[in-house]
Amino acid sequence: MFWSKITALVVSLGALANADNVLTNQALYGAPNAHNASVQSLHLSSISSTDAFTALSHPRFPNHQVRVKKSEFCDPTVNVYTGYLDVDAGAKHMFFYFFESRRNPDEDDVMMWINGGPGCSSAMGLLMELGPCSIDMKNASSNGTVWNPYSWNEEANIFFLDQPVGVGFSYADYGETVETTEAAAKNIHAFISIFFETFKQFSGRPLHLSGESYGGRYLPVFASEIYDQNQLAMEEGRPTLNLQSVLIGNGITDISTLYQGRYEVECGTASLDVPFQSISTCVRMKTALPRCQAAMQKGCIDQFDEMNCRAAVAFCDGELSTGMWATGKNVYDISKPCEGNLCYKENDAIKAYLDLPETRELLGVETPGNFSPCSSDVGRSFNIHMDKWVAPTQYYVAGLLDRGIRVLIYAGTYDWQCNWLANKLWVDKLEWSGKALYDDEEWTDWTVDGGKAGEVKQTPLLTFATIRGAGHMVPHDKPAESLAMVSRWLVQNKL
Ligand SMILES: *[C@@H]1O[C@H](CO)[C@@H](O)[C@H](O)[C@H]1NC(C)=O
Ligand SMILES: *[C@@H]1O[C@H](CO)[C@@H](O)[C@H](O)[C@H]1NC(C)=O
Ligand SMILES: *[C@@H]1O[C@H](CO)[C@@H](O)[C@H](O)[C@H]1NC(C)=O
Repeated sequence: MFWSKITALVVSLGALANADNVLTNQALYGAPNAHNASVQSLHLSSISSTDAFTALSHPRFPNHQVRVKKSEFCDPTVNVYTGYLDVDAGAKHMFFYFFESRRNPDEDDVMMWINGGPGCSSAMGLLMELGPCSIDMKNASSNGTVWNPYSWNEEANIFFLDQPVGVGFSYADYGETVETTEAAAKNIHAFISIFFETFKQFSGRPLHLSGESYGGRYLPVFASEIYDQNQLAMEEGRPTLNLQSVLIGNGITDISTLYQGRYEVECGTASLDVPFQSISTCVRMKTALPRCQAAMQKGCIDQFDEMNCRAAVAFCDGELSTGMWATGKNVYDISKPCEGNLCYKENDAIKAYLDLPETRELLGVETPGNFSPCSSDVGRSFNIHMDKWVAPTQYYVAGLLDRGIRVLIYAGTYDWQCNWLANKLWVDKLEWSGKALYDDEEWTDWTVDGGKAGEVKQTPLLTFATIRGAGHMVPHDKPAESLAMVSRWLVQNKL
């Protein structure tokens, strides 16, 4: 089925599909001389229309265009903008929401937030985790959302991006797809560059990339693309992006520790004082774990081989994941039952709200289809390329740290999917220039309003933090703690 789909695409799109495949740096970033052509620049505040988009082109990204409009969506206390980045000769459209900081938009840092999946919309992060408003689950407001006092735009300008195309409100005109993280990184770099160069007030402003879950795979690659493109830009005398840090919540990064972590969450005391999984299932898991680890090491890690890696993952999931699914517990939060689409009732409410004609108008959505929280097509495409297993993403993290980019790995302790222990295990063994310093550092409690929020190990560049009693979606479960964490991280204070 996959192959017939691809063939049809190549036949019907012909040159377009081919041009897309051979997209070179030059096509993406423009002719070498274009950089001294004048960039259309303006202050965001000059965009006052809430009805029509203002379109902005960029000489160095001739295949791209930003369309932006002001919106009354979500946070009446700040300026809000929504729009599309049209990429690849206008055939792909990436939707974003931008919220100014509630404190000082002209001086505060800029953050990007993305959700994972692969294939899930950042609207989930926006409307049920850290965004300026949350989906109204109690019919308490007349506009469908309630204001969130713990939003991360308290102290930063923040944009939420639906990526790659096919996710949320991002779409492609001719069915083109982005099927790997490395391919997605090109569009992310273009998006952020155009945004920063067009809206001059942000130029040079510290930039932080944040996200969760599959963000543990996306963000290290996206940040590395930005870092590497910065080096080229510097050589050519072009503006660079002031990338400062990466924040990953309950991520999937180094695959080698995933199943061990899941075993300890279910059958050990990693999450609860008494294991919640049955003894018989735990024995089965414990017996299978060494074989799972060895097969993954051989087929996925030492030398990636698609067939062997797929077989290893199928074995590991069969022996080490089915027991958890059978419990009916929420795999993102073992303290809760699984209720609603992807275990959260909010997801259904978010979809209903974003599909309302008046919400689409408020946002300026021109996407042909309805909203879906997670795209199964995108998930499938990434899976076909084994995107999750094929690349040692932890090497990107080490590469960033070695070049002075700060990295915060945080995790709620009740998550099973991308659990905190799997994250601790890979961070502990990560090879990078500050490893010895990190090894020597003590674990300490970190607190918010006098209460213990979790435990932390911090060095100037790398910090690992747990959030006690939070699941996969930390800001959903522990909003005050999350905001405190981000607030301290941005100013480089200890947690
Ligand atoms: C940009 O600079 C190069 C040399 O530095 C010059 O040859 C070229 O004409 C310039 N382009 C524009 C559009 O000014
Ligand atoms: C929607 O209504 C709620 C409660 O009535 C209010 O707090 C919020 O600010 C409103 N949102 C917008 C975008 O006006
Ligand atoms: C929500 O509240 C409105 C009035 O504000 C009411 O008309 C409506 O029936 C309520 N809906 C539900 C599902 O309770």
